[in-house]
Amino acid sequence: MLPLKSGVTIGEGRTPLVESRLRRNLFVKFDGANPTGSFKDRGMALGVTVAKEAGADKVIVASTGNTAASAAAYAARAGLKAYVVLPKGNVARGKLVQAALHGAVIIAVDGYFDKALELVLDHGTKRAYPLNSFNPWRLEGQKTVAFEIYEELGCPDNVVVPVGNAGNIYAIWKGFKELGELGLCPKLPRMIGVQAAGAAPLARAWREGLNSPLFVDSPKTIASAIKIGRPINWVKAFIAVRESGGMFVEVDDGEILRAQAALARADGLGVEPAGAASVAGALALDLPGITVAIATGHALKDPDVVEVKTISISSQEELIPLLER
Ligand SMILES: Cc1ncc(COP(=O)(O)O)c(C=O)c1O
Repeated sequence: MLPLKSGVTIGEGRTPLVESRLRRNLFVKFDGANPTGSFKDRGMALGVTVAKEAGADKVIVASTGNTAASAAAYAARAGLKAYVVLPKGNVARGKLVQAALHGAVIIAVDGYFDKALELVLDHGTKRAYPLNSFNPWRLEGQKTVAFEIYEELGCPDNVVVPVGNAGNIYAIWKGFKELGELGLCPKLPRMIGVQAAGAAPLARAWREGLNSPLFVDSPKTIASAIKIGRPINWVKAFIAVRESGGMFVEVDDGEILRAQAALARADGLGVEPAGAASVAGALALDLPGITVAIATGHALKDPDVVEVKTISISSQEELIPLLER
């Protein structure tokens, strides 16, 4: 069901699907368990394979961080040079470290992700093979999460996805539709797109009953991966949500952080804030039937959002009462 097999691979996919203790009938697909810690690896394997077959020696992405980490790793694996264009001060530390570790050229731009993407579209695509999610191969790879959910669970009633540049929700919908065309999924899931309240061009438009986004010039959210005001794939995302009978919703940063902590403590799953947005949405909506929330990225990507409390001691006299309380 894939247009081609990934020649370039680091073992992406086959991530855990965990039945959550947070709510009955809620399952979490932990895509933070991919090789670079996010769902991006699914599409990057295919995208870099095509780049290599097309004879490219350089790849380029604009990124809120995870695409950069993934492109850097897969480009390294393929022997290609990677350029990553990032919004200065808006990328979580773990993702920057990954891009640097894998040898990417890191270019930091003043402004938000939307500015970085504009620069890549205007100047980057002529000089290097572009691997953002307007590249159809990326979305073809990302749809594989639908196949894995189907293999373990059949077709759920709802699939909840954090939405930034809005490619993934469409990719997953495409995967389920293909299962439907093969007669494997008689009832397709509703696709629920979750945005952060300060970066919700699609959710706000949906609430107002509009057919196009209410773009946000200065997006704000702790979930830096989805801090995007002008999603390039908005048309596709609207198609996914409309065709499936789903919806877009927004959750605020407090709900995202509470969902992140709840998931970590109830299910042992450490996810970054954007990855927790889907769980926050699922908990807020209380949807009927079986729900799968896609937890898109690993907690270690963005360690700075987690408050760390430690108790300092210097002797066993201080330790014992702590253990007995
Ligand atoms: C962890 C995480 N979740 C969600 C998203 C949003 O995915 P999309 O841009 O395909 O909507 C991203 C994109 O960078 C991400 O890194």
